[in-house]
Amino acid sequence: MLIEKFGRASALGAFLALLLAACGDTAPPDALESATPSGDATAQSTADPWPRLEAAPLDPEVEAFVADLLGRMTLEEKVGQVIQAELRSVTPEDIKRYHLGSVLNGGGSTPNNDKHASLAAWVEFADSFYDASMDTSDGKLAIPILWGSDAVHGHSNVYGATIFPHNIGLGAANDVELLREIGAATAIEMLTTGLDWTFAPTLAVVRDDRWGRTYEGYSEDPRIVAAYAQAIIEGLQGVPGTPEHLGEDKILATAKHYLGDGGTDAGRDQGDNIDSEEDLVHIHNAGYPSAIKAGVRSVMASFSSWQGQKVHGHRYLLTTALKGYMGFNGFVVGDWNAHGQVESCSNDNCAPAFNAGIDMFMVPEDFRGLYDNLLAQVQEGTITQARLDDAVTRILRVKKQAGLFEARRPSSRPHSARQEELGSSAHRELARRAVRQSLVLLKNNNSVLPLAPAYRVLVAGDGADNVGKQTGGWTLTWQGTGNTNEDFPGATSAYAGIREAVEAAGGTVELKVEGRYEERPDVAIVVFGEDPYAEFQGDAPNLQYENDNGPDLALLRALKADGIPVVSVFLSGRPMWVNPHLNASDAFVAAWLPGSEGGGIADLLFEQPDGSMPYDFTGRLSYSWPRAADQAAVNAGDDDDDPLFTYGYGLTLAEGSELAAFSEESGLSDADTGASGIYFAEGRALTGFSAMLGGDRDNLLVVEGLEMRGEFLSPSMRMADRDVQGDSSLLHWRAGAPGYFAIRADGRPLDLQRESNGHLALSLLMRAAQRPSSPVLMGMRDASGKTAQVDVMPLLESSDGWENHRVSLRCFAERGVDMQQITVPLELYTTDEAQLVLAEVRLATAAEGDAYCPEQ
Ligand code: BGC
Ligand code: BGC
Repeated sequence: MLIEKFGRASALGAFLALLLAACGDTAPPDALESATPSGDATAQSTADPWPRLEAAPLDPEVEAFVADLLGRMTLEEKVGQVIQAELRSVTPEDIKRYHLGSVLNGGGSTPNNDKHASLAAWVEFADSFYDASMDTSDGKLAIPILWGSDAVHGHSNVYGATIFPHNIGLGAANDVELLREIGAATAIEMLTTGLDWTFAPTLAVVRDDRWGRTYEGYSEDPRIVAAYAQAIIEGLQGVPGTPEHLGEDKILATAKHYLGDGGTDAGRDQGDNIDSEEDLVHIHNAGYPSAIKAGVRSVMASFSSWQGQKVHGHRYLLTTALKGYMGFNGFVVGDWNAHGQVESCSNDNCAPAFNAGIDMFMVPEDFRGLYDNLLAQVQEGTITQARLDDAVTRILRVKKQAGLFEARRPSSRPHSARQEELGSSAHRELARRAVRQSLVLLKNNNSVLPLAPAYRVLVAGDGADNVGKQTGGWTLTWQGTGNTNEDFPGATSAYAGIREAVEAAGGTVELKVEGRYEERPDVAIVVFGEDPYAEFQGDAPNLQYENDNGPDLALLRALKADGIPVVSVFLSGRPMWVNPHLNASDAFVAAWLPGSEGGGIADLLFEQPDGSMPYDFTGRLSYSWPRAADQAAVNAGDDDDDPLFTYGYGLTLAEGSELAAFSEESGLSDADTGASGIYFAEGRALTGFSAMLGGDRDNLLVVEGLEMRGEFLSPSMRMADRDVQGDSSLLHWRAGAPGYFAIRADGRPLDLQRESNGHLALSLLMRAAQRPSSPVLMGMRDASGKTAQVDVMPLLESSDGWENHRVSLRCFAERGVDMQQITVPLELYTTDEAQLVLAEVRLATAAEGDAYCPEQ
């Protein structure tokens, strides 16, 4: 059914031909639907829909090496191999003591916690881990460690690296060769830091754009994902069978997240994919056969569930299908503590995941406990020796195939610490080309584009000179928040690129983020869009970009009202409902998350000084664009498929097109629009939440309106001023009168389970107007009435003004409250006099390790 639609869309012809060729699949479009996913040539006659792949041939020399090594390993050494710990928690001593097989640095995790860590520092860490793994002084075997990292759009945790467009933009570029080149460039940049292995590509086929990881997927179309999987993996690892394969210029890739991550119900991160097995295979598995054929050596299991069962505990998916039917003979790495979500498991104890087929646990912090438990489980037989040997064999095989046993210390490898290869001009040029290829022109009324560069140009919008916003999540920090232009040496913002083009042609440029120009411009370019986010924090309740009172819309409308032609450049991690913005713009460009080379934007907006136009838009939507804000799961070929812009849409400058105004009805009811993760803002409880107070926890009084005062109330609550009048609330506890302030979720209990798994915190924007004289307990309460409390006195004592006080959600989880059933996301309790002014309560990232959690 997918294909029929494309058959009619003539503009897509060449695109499809390219993809089909890349898939090695010459079936006519309407036959593709029933065929097994691309890359699988073997016909099949079984009842299940899985493709059958021939396992990659094993090299007898490698196998003999591995078997010999395995035969000499102790049980302890074997257990260590299947464990991966995290940079912030692990030391070389741990690596030696536990014989750890791998380390990772998570999103935003860097040597010495230094966001600007030098190549020398990265390589020094790599050396120290390597040395620990190769140390035989205690009679142990030398087995080189593997260091993995999320180089998901370039080597994106590293200061100075080239940041390529996020995958959603590459999907629009419809160019498999480009992917191959990006893979090759990323490999070189990774090698400069001494690392071995990237947790990329993401092969999610994204079907609901509310998912906060939509931008990590190339497309809603399984065929693009299949074609790209092969190309990027060959770029990263080299083409199997050629001398470059896993050679000195290459690194290991990971196909993730197996399986069904892009198809969870309502686009919920780590959620449940309820698709049939047919759809699971034909849609979500599409990238895996081609990844396996391209020689991928590791597959990362998905946090999500399939039909209610966590993939990390799913033997059928991991072992029967992946290692059996699809012949995968590399190893399966788990995701970040995801095994802890399997039934009956915890982060430091999970034999079921190992028995289901996980070969290496990603267990950032709790690796010591996990090691002890695994050891005991093999000794007592919960895990068989054969299963352990299989996992270790797979890991050693990959290490041997990757040449790690011969590679020497990281610092003595060919690309190590070569500063000129990190963010090199060749890589930046490639990234700039990728930007040009990824931009999709949605509207160009009156052929306002291309612009004459000799114009007087106004550049506006908070995305205009903002590389952090351009690069999005998984960039220097986990969520991509908190980055400034200074964090990106060598990068070009959209504005910088525009300025260069215009000034070279003798025009003038004025940057005014708010759009208040001094001299009337000939044209305004407004760069705006989503602020950075990553996994689960980016999940959205619907696809509305901003409501009718939104500041960006106001800016566009004001310029339009002044009669100034408006060119919108929209930065986003997904297609969004922006009908009012489209209406207020003459031209509208979907720029996705273009990365560090914003110059690629100007390349497509301006003519050359001589009036020629060297480039045109070639990007085409790889995701359908919604007609209404609640149309989140609109995918080409669906029965009710009626998007605003269909899959494959994209204008060129050469062919003009006039769009009439679109409906500005969002399709949302008021109840749909509540923001997620914010409970209290501007000094008041948000819709869906109530502020409550009083001395008896089981009989708190609901604050109706903004204030609640009374002689006997402790605390009492009244409006206070932070920046503006009444934007915060003063909570006043009287001397000797213990009491609670609480925020209650009025509707369903909140499910904060997955948020508690990492570095998310409950964040209170607060000031102590009068320092408390006895402990202040901050709590969370669950539906059964159980409360977990943390004494936050130390935070208040060391602070003397407005501050975001963050307590890690993990801290509450550890204190035994049921994070899946939170009815009171915040409770504050003290027994004696105190005055606290509270402005905001929300979930926030504290990936830099600054969330508070005292020892119990
Ligand atoms: C993500 C993975 C990532 C891993 C390591 C997880 O939370 O789901 O995509 O590779 O963290 O940072
Ligand atoms: C890490 C990420 C990881 C996340 C999981 C973060 O602190 O940096 O890589 O995916 O935690 O919760």
